[in-house]
Amino acid sequence: MAEMEVDPAFRADVLSGLAAPIRAVPARWLYDRRGSELFERITELPEYYPTRVERGLLERYSADVARIAGTGDAVVEFGSGSSAKTPILLRAVAPSAYVPIDISGNFLRDSSAALQKDFPELPIYPVEGDFMKPIVLPPEVARATKLGFFPGSTIGNMVARTSVDLLRAMKDTLGVGAFLLIGMDRLKDVDTLIRAYDDAQGVTAAFNMNLLHRINAELNGDIPLDAFRHRAIWNDRMARIEMHLEAVRNVAFAVEGQSFAFKAGETIHTENSHKYGLRDSRLLLRAAGWGLCREWTDEDDQFALILAEAEAPRFAP
Ligand code: AVJ
Repeated sequence: MAEMEVDPAFRADVLSGLAAPIRAVPARWLYDRRGSELFERITELPEYYPTRVERGLLERYSADVARIAGTGDAVVEFGSGSSAKTPILLRAVAPSAYVPIDISGNFLRDSSAALQKDFPELPIYPVEGDFMKPIVLPPEVARATKLGFFPGSTIGNMVARTSVDLLRAMKDTLGVGAFLLIGMDRLKDVDTLIRAYDDAQGVTAAFNMNLLHRINAELNGDIPLDAFRHRAIWNDRMARIEMHLEAVRNVAFAVEGQSFAFKAGETIHTENSHKYGLRDSRLLLRAAGWGLCREWTDEDDQFALILAEAEAPRFAP
């Protein structure tokens, strides 16, 4: 592994995250190549309902989205990744342009090329960038009405303050009068949630444990992998599923020459997945200047597809 280029931000996040009083490593480091492959497998698990339910909602309601937001809009996808659900929306909206935004240029080029095959007439303008900050859109879409697309309940990864920052950045990127179609996972019974994040085949466990592999391989670690196990915990106060890596015995190890020690039962917090009730999701959007247009859910109210509109600033009494 000596030849491998290590991201200095990964190194810094791991070393400070393991030294912190509450140990945590930012969730983005779960998604290396292997982690992204494992996440793709998670989306196909019987227990992992979000992907399936959201796709069903898009298939059923994309035509309604197009009717309200308008056909011929420029569709702007945030964190497009593999753009797996995008074709369903694009077929209904028949946009004038598609602007996928992603932090990973490689991923962006591959998925744009794949999409172009299915939509040969569609102008695609990929933007490599961090959508947590306002982004300058390509001049070609300056005059089009924008429809932002943020599926997959990715917003659930963020704590409330960061979610509002992001939604506000999206509003600044898209402008007043733009629409946003966003997927949010709903509050539901704890057993269903735990099963979705601790599946019988152990794919989610492998996804979480991959972080330790990655630390060992890229940061010269000697973490004994059998000393940790995957845990999915419901934090009711914060209304979120938390993924942790829990030490099953007292263990000491080194990363980049720095020593760390865990007592049995101590954990590394690796990911949050916030869940939203009906009013929660509306409040979150409103806090960032997005007004509710329409909301669609499945019959069991497992997952919500929400269409919002960027509101002009106004005086409030
Ligand atoms: C990609 C953040 C939407 O929180 O459901 C799935 C990530 N982690 N199983 C989610 C995830 C473990 C997923 N998101």
